[in-house]
Amino acid sequence: MNKLKTIICIATLAAALIALSVGSLATTPAVFQDGAKIYADKCAKCHKADGTGEAKYQKQGIEDMSNATWQKNHTDAKIAAAIKNGKGEFMPAWKGKLKPAEITAVVKHIRSLKK
Ligand code: HEC
Repeated sequence: MNKLKTIICIATLAAALIALSVGSLATTPAVFQDGAKIYADKCAKCHKADGTGEAKYQKQGIEDMSNATWQKNHTDAKIAAAIKNGKGEFMPAWKGKLKPAEITAVVKHIRSLKK
């Protein structure tokens, strides 16, 4: 009877450990997911879902973020700074509206738009 209890106890522990490790593995795609969602909610109306930019904002200096040369010329730090502080008259500053981790996630999403 005691043996059975021990086995049940070990099995419960093992199940808890498996659940924990599966949980931590799942956090990486969740962060990526957030970047895509933030971009879709807050950026796509000007930058378009694919990053090429709405035609009406091209006069205001919006560039094609999916372009390989654009991607090469913009470091993560430069993109993050533009998101934080805004740029020109039409690119809003997101400082205070997006957490640093959310800005990092959006930068990652912008990287995924590269063609
Ligand atoms: C109201 C329209 C609008 C919204 C909303 C908007 N942007 Fe912009 N964005 C612009 C315009 C216009 C520019 C070009 C500004 C310039 O070059 O003067 C720009 C430029 C940028 C740049 C390039 C900066 C550089 O250094 O060349 C990045 C990166 C960027 N936006 C990211 C984002 C992200 C991420 C979001 C959402 C969190 C967002 N934008 C939301 C209009 C917008």
